[in-house]
Amino acid sequence: MLLERALRYGPRRLRPSPKVLSFRDGDPSRLAPAAPDDPPLRADHRSSVRAACRALRRPRVDSERDCAICLGKMSAAALIQGASRGIGLAMTGSLLERDPDLRVIATCREPSRATALQDMRNEFPARLRLLRLDLEDEASLAEAAQQLGSEELNLLVNCAGILHDEQMKPERALREIDPVQLHRSFAINAIGPLLVAKHFHAQLPKKGRSVFASLSARIGSIGDNRAGGWYGYRGSKAAQNMFTKTLAVELARVRPDAISVALHPGTVATDLSAPFRRGVSRKPVFSAETAARQLLDVIDGLEAKDHGGFFAWDGSPIPW
Ligand SMILES: NC(=O)c1ccc[n+]([C@@H]2O[C@H](COP(=O)([O-])OP(=O)(O)OC[C@H]3O[C@@H](n4cnc5c(N)ncnc54)[C@H](OP(=O)(O)O)[C@@H]3O)[C@@H](O)[C@H]2O)c1
Repeated sequence: MLLERALRYGPRRLRPSPKVLSFRDGDPSRLAPAAPDDPPLRADHRSSVRAACRALRRPRVDSERDCAICLGKMSAAALIQGASRGIGLAMTGSLLERDPDLRVIATCREPSRATALQDMRNEFPARLRLLRLDLEDEASLAEAAQQLGSEELNLLVNCAGILHDEQMKPERALREIDPVQLHRSFAINAIGPLLVAKHFHAQLPKKGRSVFASLSARIGSIGDNRAGGWYGYRGSKAAQNMFTKTLAVELARVRPDAISVALHPGTVATDLSAPFRRGVSRKPVFSAETAARQLLDVIDGLEAKDHGGFFAWDGSPIPW
Protein backbone atom coordinates (compact mmCIF):
# COMPACT_ATOMS: atom_id res chain seq x y z
CA MET A 1 0.00 0.00 0.00
CA LEU A 2 2.80 2.39 0.93
CA LEU A 3 4.55 1.48 -2.27
CA GLU A 4 1.40 2.17 -4.27
CA ARG A 5 1.03 5.57 -2.69
CA ALA A 6 4.69 6.39 -3.05
CA LEU A 7 4.62 5.47 -6.70
CA ARG A 8 1.50 7.50 -7.33
CA TYR A 9 2.18 10.61 -5.31
CA GLY A 10 5.91 10.61 -4.65
CA PRO A 11 7.32 10.39 -1.13
CA ARG A 12 6.32 13.95 -0.22
CA ARG A 13 2.73 13.60 -1.35
CA LEU A 14 1.46 10.70 0.69
CA ARG A 15 -2.03 12.13 0.93
CA PRO A 16 -4.89 9.77 1.80
CA SER A 17 -5.25 7.68 -1.32
CA PRO A 18 -8.62 7.29 -3.05
CA LYS A 19 -8.83 3.52 -2.74
CA VAL A 20 -10.51 3.17 -6.11
CA LEU A 21 -7.22 4.09 -7.67
CA SER A 22 -5.18 1.11 -6.53
CA PHE A 23 -2.69 -0.14 -9.13
CA ARG A 24 -3.07 -3.27 -11.05
CA ASP A 25 0.07 -5.26 -11.86
CA GLY A 26 2.44 -3.39 -14.11
CA ASP A 27 3.63 -4.89 -17.36
CA PRO A 28 7.38 -4.25 -17.56
CA SER A 29 7.62 -5.73 -21.04
CA ARG A 30 5.50 -2.90 -22.48
CA LEU A 31 7.82 -0.13 -21.30
CA ALA A 32 9.85 1.74 -23.88
CA PRO A 33 13.55 2.34 -23.13
CA ALA A 34 14.50 5.85 -22.01
CA ALA A 35 15.91 8.16 -24.69
CA PRO A 36 19.36 9.72 -24.00
CA ASP A 37 17.95 13.29 -23.85
CA ASP A 38 15.13 12.52 -21.39
CA PRO A 39 15.16 14.81 -18.37
CA PRO A 40 16.38 13.05 -15.22
CA LEU A 41 13.96 11.91 -12.55
CA ARG A 42 12.88 14.50 -10.02
CA ALA A 43 14.82 14.05 -6.79
CA ASP A 44 11.63 13.71 -4.77
CA HIS A 45 10.45 10.96 -7.08
CA ARG A 46 13.53 8.85 -7.60
CA SER A 47 13.63 6.55 -4.62
CA SER A 48 9.93 5.69 -4.67
CA VAL A 49 9.90 4.97 -8.40
CA ARG A 50 13.03 2.83 -8.13
CA ALA A 51 11.46 0.92 -5.28
CA ALA A 52 8.39 0.36 -7.42
CA CYS A 53 10.52 -0.80 -10.33
CA ARG A 54 12.26 -3.32 -8.10
CA ALA A 55 8.90 -4.59 -6.92
CA LEU A 56 7.66 -4.91 -10.50
CA ARG A 57 10.96 -6.49 -11.62
CA ARG A 58 11.39 -3.95 -14.40
CA PRO A 59 14.69 -2.31 -15.37
CA ARG A 60 15.86 0.62 -13.30
CA VAL A 61 14.19 3.92 -14.20
CA ASP A 62 16.51 6.87 -14.71
CA SER A 63 14.48 9.41 -16.62
CA GLU A 64 11.33 11.44 -16.08
CA ARG A 65 9.91 10.24 -19.37
CA ASP A 66 10.38 6.61 -18.52
CA CYS A 67 8.84 7.24 -15.17
CA ALA A 68 5.83 8.92 -16.79
CA ILE A 69 5.46 5.96 -19.13
CA CYS A 70 5.54 3.64 -16.16
CA LEU A 71 2.94 5.64 -14.25
CA GLY A 72 0.77 6.09 -17.32
CA LYS A 73 0.73 2.37 -18.06
CA MET A 74 -0.52 1.66 -14.58
CA SER A 75 -2.81 4.60 -13.91
CA ALA A 76 -6.42 3.86 -13.14
CA ALA A 77 -9.57 4.63 -15.09
CA ALA A 78 -13.09 5.53 -14.05
CA LEU A 79 -16.29 5.53 -16.10
CA ILE A 80 -19.13 7.91 -15.29
CA GLN A 81 -22.37 6.94 -16.99
CA GLY A 82 -24.86 9.82 -17.41
CA ALA A 83 -22.28 12.61 -17.32
CA SER A 84 -23.89 15.34 -19.43
CA ARG A 85 -25.57 17.17 -16.53
CA GLY A 86 -26.17 17.23 -12.81
CA ILE A 87 -24.33 14.91 -10.45
CA GLY A 88 -22.68 12.88 -13.24
CA LEU A 89 -21.12 16.00 -14.76
CA ALA A 90 -19.93 17.21 -11.33
CA MET A 91 -18.53 13.77 -10.54
CA THR A 92 -16.57 13.74 -13.80
CA GLY A 93 -15.06 17.15 -12.96
CA SER A 94 -14.35 16.15 -9.38
CA LEU A 95 -12.51 12.97 -10.42
CA LEU A 96 -10.37 14.85 -12.93
CA GLU A 97 -9.44 17.44 -10.31
CA ARG A 98 -8.88 14.88 -7.57
CA ASP A 99 -6.28 12.75 -9.21
CA PRO A 100 -3.89 14.00 -11.89
CA ASP A 101 -3.19 10.46 -13.14
CA LEU A 102 -6.74 9.21 -13.43
CA ARG A 103 -8.29 8.70 -16.86
CA VAL A 104 -12.02 9.32 -16.98
CA ILE A 105 -14.49 8.00 -19.52
CA ALA A 106 -17.70 10.02 -19.46
CA THR A 107 -20.74 8.67 -21.27
CA CYS A 108 -23.92 10.45 -22.27
CA ARG A 109 -26.77 10.19 -24.76
CA GLU A 110 -25.55 12.88 -27.10
CA PRO A 111 -21.88 13.93 -26.69
CA SER A 112 -22.16 16.52 -29.47
CA ARG A 113 -24.81 18.39 -27.43
CA ALA A 114 -23.17 18.01 -24.01
CA THR A 115 -21.43 21.38 -24.07
CA ALA A 116 -20.31 21.42 -20.41
CA LEU A 117 -18.74 18.00 -20.88
CA GLN A 118 -17.03 19.13 -24.07
CA ASP A 119 -15.57 22.14 -22.23
CA MET A 120 -14.21 19.73 -19.64
CA ARG A 121 -12.69 17.57 -22.36
CA ASN A 122 -10.99 20.65 -23.83
CA GLU A 123 -9.49 21.30 -20.41
CA PHE A 124 -8.34 17.69 -19.90
CA PRO A 125 -7.88 16.37 -23.46
CA ALA A 126 -5.46 13.60 -22.48
CA ARG A 127 -7.47 12.24 -19.59
CA LEU A 128 -11.14 12.66 -20.48
CA ARG A 129 -12.80 10.59 -23.15
CA LEU A 130 -16.45 10.97 -24.18
CA LEU A 131 -18.50 8.06 -25.40
CA ARG A 132 -22.10 7.87 -26.57
CA LEU A 133 -24.32 5.70 -24.41
CA ASP A 134 -28.11 5.82 -24.30
CA LEU A 135 -29.64 3.54 -21.66
CA GLU A 136 -32.69 3.06 -23.88
CA ASP A 137 -30.56 1.79 -26.77
CA GLU A 138 -28.72 -1.40 -25.81
CA ALA A 139 -26.66 -1.37 -29.01
CA SER A 140 -25.07 1.89 -27.82
CA LEU A 141 -23.92 0.15 -24.62
CA ALA A 142 -22.40 -2.72 -26.58
CA GLU A 143 -20.64 -0.25 -28.85
CA ALA A 144 -19.29 1.85 -25.96
CA ALA A 145 -17.98 -1.27 -24.21
CA GLN A 146 -16.35 -2.39 -27.45
CA GLN A 147 -14.65 0.98 -27.79
CA LEU A 148 -13.07 0.51 -24.39
CA GLY A 149 -11.38 -2.65 -25.62
CA SER A 150 -9.31 -4.19 -22.83
CA GLU A 151 -9.27 -1.02 -20.71
CA GLU A 152 -9.79 -1.84 -17.03
CA LEU A 153 -12.14 0.27 -14.94
CA ASN A 154 -11.38 0.71 -11.25
CA LEU A 155 -14.56 2.70 -10.80
CA LEU A 156 -17.87 2.75 -12.65
CA VAL A 157 -20.70 5.01 -11.47
CA ASN A 158 -24.20 4.93 -12.95
CA CYS A 159 -25.53 8.45 -12.60
CA ALA A 160 -28.28 8.73 -15.21
CA GLY A 161 -31.81 8.77 -13.94
CA ILE A 162 -35.22 10.23 -14.69
CA LEU A 163 -37.96 11.67 -12.50
CA HIS A 164 -39.72 14.02 -14.91
CA ASP A 165 -39.49 15.55 -18.36
CA GLU A 166 -41.86 17.28 -20.77
CA GLN A 167 -44.11 14.23 -20.94
CA MET A 168 -43.60 12.76 -17.49
CA LYS A 169 -44.20 13.93 -13.95
CA PRO A 170 -44.29 11.97 -10.69
CA GLU A 171 -47.73 10.55 -9.94
CA ARG A 172 -49.51 11.90 -6.85
CA ALA A 173 -52.38 9.40 -7.05
CA LEU A 174 -53.46 6.26 -8.88
CA ARG A 175 -55.50 8.23 -11.44
CA GLU A 176 -52.21 9.65 -12.79
CA ILE A 177 -50.64 6.26 -13.53
CA ASP A 178 -49.53 6.01 -17.18
CA PRO A 179 -48.07 2.67 -18.27
CA VAL A 180 -45.93 4.28 -20.98
CA GLN A 181 -44.26 6.57 -18.45
CA LEU A 182 -43.89 3.72 -15.98
CA HIS A 183 -42.03 1.75 -18.64
CA ARG A 184 -39.78 4.73 -19.28
CA SER A 185 -38.92 5.12 -15.57
CA PHE A 186 -38.06 1.44 -15.33
CA ALA A 187 -36.07 1.48 -18.60
CA ILE A 188 -33.81 4.32 -17.47
CA ASN A 189 -33.66 3.97 -13.67
CA ALA A 190 -33.69 0.19 -13.22
CA ILE A 191 -32.94 -1.68 -16.45
CA GLY A 192 -30.35 0.90 -17.57
CA PRO A 193 -27.81 0.34 -14.76
CA LEU A 194 -28.34 -3.42 -15.08
CA LEU A 195 -27.50 -3.27 -18.79
CA VAL A 196 -24.41 -1.26 -17.89
CA ALA A 197 -23.41 -4.12 -15.57
CA LYS A 198 -24.09 -6.63 -18.37
CA HIS A 199 -21.88 -4.83 -20.87
CA PHE A 200 -19.15 -3.41 -18.62
CA HIS A 201 -18.60 -5.83 -15.74
CA ALA A 202 -15.85 -7.55 -17.73
CA GLN A 203 -13.88 -4.27 -17.59
CA LEU A 204 -13.61 -4.50 -13.80
CA PRO A 205 -10.22 -5.96 -12.89
CA LYS A 206 -10.16 -9.68 -12.08
CA LYS A 207 -7.87 -8.91 -9.17
CA GLY A 208 -7.70 -5.77 -7.07
CA ARG A 209 -10.30 -3.43 -5.67
CA SER A 210 -12.86 -1.85 -7.96
CA VAL A 211 -16.22 -0.20 -7.33
CA PHE A 212 -19.45 -0.48 -9.32
CA ALA A 213 -21.83 2.13 -7.89
CA SER A 214 -25.31 3.14 -8.98
CA LEU A 215 -26.97 6.35 -7.88
CA SER A 216 -30.28 5.31 -6.42
CA ALA A 217 -32.56 7.31 -4.12
CA ARG A 218 -33.78 6.90 -0.56
CA ILE A 219 -37.27 7.12 -2.01
CA GLY A 220 -36.66 3.65 -3.51
CA SER A 221 -36.32 2.15 -0.04
CA ILE A 222 -39.34 -0.05 0.68
CA GLY A 223 -38.59 0.03 4.41
CA ASP A 224 -38.43 3.82 4.41
CA ASN A 225 -41.62 4.48 2.40
CA ARG A 226 -43.90 6.60 4.56
CA ALA A 227 -45.14 9.27 2.16
CA GLY A 228 -46.40 7.14 -0.79
CA GLY A 229 -46.92 8.59 -4.28
CA TRP A 230 -44.32 8.81 -7.08
CA TYR A 231 -45.08 5.24 -8.15
CA GLY A 232 -42.84 5.17 -11.20
CA TYR A 233 -39.77 6.72 -9.57
CA ARG A 234 -40.15 4.78 -6.31
CA GLY A 235 -40.85 1.49 -8.04
CA SER A 236 -38.02 1.84 -10.54
CA LYS A 237 -35.52 2.83 -7.85
CA ALA A 238 -36.66 -0.13 -5.69
CA ALA A 239 -36.14 -2.38 -8.74
CA GLN A 240 -32.74 -0.78 -9.32
CA ASN A 241 -31.85 -1.58 -5.70
CA MET A 242 -32.85 -5.21 -6.13
CA PHE A 243 -30.79 -5.43 -9.32
CA THR A 244 -27.81 -3.93 -7.46
CA LYS A 245 -28.14 -6.50 -4.69
CA THR A 246 -28.55 -9.37 -7.16
CA LEU A 247 -25.61 -8.13 -9.20
CA ALA A 248 -23.53 -8.09 -6.01
CA VAL A 249 -24.16 -11.82 -5.56
CA GLU A 250 -22.96 -12.60 -9.09
CA LEU A 251 -19.99 -10.21 -8.94
CA ALA A 252 -18.79 -11.93 -5.77
CA ARG A 253 -18.25 -15.00 -7.97
CA VAL A 254 -16.83 -13.43 -11.13
CA ARG A 255 -15.07 -10.31 -9.75
CA PRO A 256 -14.44 -11.19 -6.10
CA ASP A 257 -12.57 -7.95 -5.29
CA ALA A 258 -15.26 -5.68 -6.77
CA ILE A 259 -17.57 -3.74 -4.46
CA SER A 260 -21.04 -3.04 -5.81
CA VAL A 261 -23.34 -0.59 -4.03
CA ALA A 262 -26.38 1.65 -4.40
CA LEU A 263 -25.86 5.26 -3.26
CA HIS A 264 -28.31 8.00 -2.27
CA PRO A 265 -26.86 11.46 -3.03
CA GLY A 266 -29.26 13.42 -0.79
CA THR A 267 -31.31 16.24 -2.24
CA VAL A 268 -29.16 17.89 -4.89
CA ALA A 269 -29.79 21.11 -6.79
CA THR A 270 -30.09 19.71 -10.32
CA ASP A 271 -32.70 19.72 -13.07
CA LEU A 272 -34.11 16.49 -11.63
CA SER A 273 -35.03 18.01 -8.26
CA ALA A 274 -35.74 21.58 -9.43
CA PRO A 275 -39.57 21.46 -9.43
CA PHE A 276 -39.72 19.74 -6.03
CA ARG A 277 -37.10 21.38 -3.84
CA ARG A 278 -39.48 23.71 -2.01
CA GLY A 279 -41.11 20.67 -0.40
CA VAL A 280 -37.85 19.55 1.21
CA SER A 281 -36.85 22.81 2.86
CA ARG A 282 -36.04 21.08 6.15
CA LYS A 283 -33.41 18.87 4.51
CA PRO A 284 -30.05 20.14 3.25
CA VAL A 285 -29.90 20.79 -0.48
CA PHE A 286 -26.42 20.13 -1.85
CA SER A 287 -24.86 21.62 -4.93
CA ALA A 288 -23.96 19.01 -7.56
CA GLU A 289 -20.27 19.62 -6.79
CA THR A 290 -20.74 19.01 -3.05
CA ALA A 291 -22.83 15.91 -3.76
CA ALA A 292 -20.15 14.56 -6.12
CA ARG A 293 -17.42 15.13 -3.54
CA GLN A 294 -19.45 13.49 -0.79
CA LEU A 295 -20.28 10.47 -2.94
CA LEU A 296 -16.64 10.04 -3.98
CA ASP A 297 -15.64 10.17 -0.31
CA VAL A 298 -18.17 7.41 0.44
CA ILE A 299 -16.82 5.39 -2.51
CA ASP A 300 -13.25 5.84 -1.29
CA GLY A 301 -14.22 4.56 2.12
CA LEU A 302 -16.03 1.43 0.91
CA GLU A 303 -14.66 -1.88 2.14
CA ALA A 304 -15.33 -5.47 1.15
CA LYS A 305 -17.94 -5.79 3.91
CA ASP A 306 -19.98 -3.01 2.23
CA HIS A 307 -20.42 -5.02 -0.98
CA GLY A 308 -24.11 -5.26 -1.89
CA GLY A 309 -25.13 -2.38 0.40
CA PHE A 310 -27.20 0.81 0.07
CA PHE A 311 -25.59 3.95 1.50
CA ALA A 312 -26.45 7.63 1.83
CA TRP A 313 -24.22 10.58 0.96
CA ASP A 314 -22.76 10.59 4.50
CA GLY A 315 -21.92 6.88 4.40
CA SER A 316 -24.82 5.82 6.63
CA PRO A 317 -26.60 2.61 5.57
CA ILE A 318 -30.18 2.82 4.24
CA PRO A 319 -32.66 -0.03 4.72
CA TRP A 320 -33.66 -1.71 1.48
N1 LIG B 1 -30.99 15.43 -7.66
C1 LIG B 1 -31.45 14.82 -6.58
O1 LIG B 1 -31.93 15.48 -5.62
C2 LIG B 1 -31.41 13.33 -6.48
C3 LIG B 1 -31.88 12.73 -5.29
C4 LIG B 1 -31.85 11.34 -5.17
C5 LIG B 1 -31.32 10.56 -6.21
N2 LIG B 1 -30.88 11.16 -7.35
C6 LIG B 1 -30.36 10.29 -8.42
O2 LIG B 1 -29.09 10.74 -8.84
C7 LIG B 1 -28.91 10.47 -10.23
C8 LIG B 1 -28.46 11.75 -10.94
O3 LIG B 1 -29.50 12.69 -10.82
P1 LIG B 1 -29.31 14.23 -11.23
O4 LIG B 1 -29.95 15.01 -10.18
O5 LIG B 1 -27.90 14.49 -11.60
O6 LIG B 1 -30.23 14.28 -12.55
P2 LIG B 1 -30.22 15.28 -13.81
O7 LIG B 1 -29.48 16.51 -13.51
O8 LIG B 1 -31.64 15.37 -14.25
O9 LIG B 1 -29.35 14.45 -14.88
C9 LIG B 1 -29.88 13.26 -15.37
C10 LIG B 1 -28.84 12.64 -16.28
O10 LIG B 1 -29.38 11.40 -16.74
C11 LIG B 1 -29.14 11.36 -18.14
N3 LIG B 1 -30.07 10.49 -18.84
C12 LIG B 1 -31.43 10.55 -18.86
N4 LIG B 1 -31.91 9.61 -19.66
C13 LIG B 1 -30.86 8.92 -20.15
C14 LIG B 1 -30.70 7.83 -21.03
N5 LIG B 1 -31.75 7.24 -21.62
N6 LIG B 1 -29.46 7.38 -21.29
C15 LIG B 1 -28.37 7.96 -20.74
N7 LIG B 1 -28.45 9.01 -19.92
C16 LIG B 1 -29.69 9.48 -19.63
C17 LIG B 1 -29.30 12.81 -18.59
O11 LIG B 1 -28.74 12.96 -19.87
P3 LIG B 1 -29.31 14.04 -20.94
O12 LIG B 1 -28.54 15.30 -20.68
O13 LIG B 1 -29.01 13.43 -22.25
O14 LIG B 1 -30.77 14.21 -20.71
C18 LIG B 1 -28.53 13.50 -17.49
O15 LIG B 1 -27.14 13.45 -17.71
C19 LIG B 1 -30.24 9.91 -10.74
O16 LIG B 1 -30.16 8.51 -10.82
C20 LIG B 1 -31.24 10.33 -9.67
O17 LIG B 1 -32.32 9.44 -9.59
C21 LIG B 1 -30.89 12.52 -7.50
